[in-house]
Formats: sequence, C-alpha cells, structure tokens
Amino acid sequence: MYLESPAVVEVRVRRARRTEAATTAFLLRVAFAEVAGLYTPEALAATLPDVETLRRRMDEGVVWLAFVGATPVGTLSAYPRPEGLHLRSMAVHPGARGLGVGRALLEEAERFGRARGHGRVFLRTTPFLNHAIALYSRAGFSLHQGSERDFHGVPLFELEKSL
Ligand SMILES: CC(C)(COP(=O)(O)OP(=O)(O)OC[C@H]1O[C@@H](n2cnc3c(N)ncnc32)[C@H](O)[C@@H]1OP(=O)(O)O)[C@@H](O)C(=O)NCCC(=O)NCCS
Repeated sequence: MYLESPAVVEVRVRRARRTEAATTAFLLRVAFAEVAGLYTPEALAATLPDVETLRRRMDEGVVWLAFVGATPVGTLSAYPRPEGLHLRSMAVHPGARGLGVGRALLEEAERFGRARGHGRVFLRTTPFLNHAIALYSRAGFSLHQGSERDFHGVPLFELEKSL
C-alpha cells in the first residue's frame, strides 16, 4: 500500500513547480499503467507527456499536484480556450485511489476556472476509463454532443460542465 488509509485524509492541491515536472510525469505513468494495454502506442505516448512537455504546460496553462501529507499522489492540467477551461492528464496513484484525490483536483480546477471568468470546463476521456467516467459524472459533467472522435486509434469523447 502506497499510503495508510485512515477514514478521512486531508488532500492538499497546489500548482506544480517546474522542478516537479518529473514527479508529475511519474504519477501519470504509474496511474495509467493498468490501462496502458488498451491504448495504441501512439495514443499512449500522447497520454503520457514527458518532462519538457509538462514544463511547457506549466508556462502555457496550469499543472496541479495533489498531496496527502508530503506525498504527491495525483495530478491534473488545464489550459484556457475561448469556449472554456480544458482539463487533461488527470491521474491518481493506484495506492491513493478512493480517497477523494480526483475529486479535490477537479474542485481546484473548477475554482480556478470560475476565478478566471470561464463559463464552462471541458475534458476528454475514453470509454474504458470507468473510474474516471464515474468521477466526472458524479462531479456533474455531461456528454458534449457530437464530440466523439478518434484519438490515435482510441475512441474519445468530450464531457463538459457549466461553472
Ligand atoms: C480516475 C481517477 C483519477 C480517480 O481518482 P480517485 O482519487 O480514486 O478519485 P476519487 O477518490 O475522488 O473518487 C473515486 C471514487 O471511487 C471510489 N473508490 C473507492 N475505492 C476505490 C479504489 N480503490 N479505486 C478507485 N475508486 C475507489 C470512491 O469511493 C470514490 O467515490 P466517491 O467520490 O463517491 O467517494 C483514478 O482512478 C486514475 O488515476 N485512473 C487512471 C487514469 C485515468 O483514468 N485518468 C483519467 C483520464 S480522462
């Protein structure tokens, strides 16, 4: 077990520092390991940004890290578009699942979106990411109609939520 599991854990979310790009890349790789075999090699490569790409994302948008105590356990990125705030690269370490880390990351992104005056938040996911789809629908996301597309050979659809 990566973390002890007390009944209630405090999850802290803050923006990742440039020096934490490698930590962020690691969390993404560990979190997606269990579903890696469901992706084409091209889709997996695009799903797992490297350190340089993550540093660029920190300059162009936001990358958050979630912590339990001093341990980094999850990440989420966002970038602004005219139609709203787009989220990507949600990942929680398998040893820290079910503790509300994903929910805390989403809440922070929504707070950020509201503070920046965005009316909507968007994200893309694939039909086999069951935990993610459940998390997003509980958080109030719904299907953005007509958004189904192919992501390097993997089906992809877009969800949206009004802020
Ligand atoms: C999707 C993902 C980010 C969710 O992270 P998480 O921190 O477990 O999410 P939360 O704890 O906020 O919510 C998980 C829900 O599952 C339940 N759960 C309980 N134990 C769990 C476990 N071992 N694993 C997963 N979920 C569990 C929780 O009760 C919770 O429901 P609740 O909000 O009603 O309490 C995580 O599963 C993950 O990284 N998956 C692989 C990568 C991925 O799919 N990314 C999304 C790309 S679009």
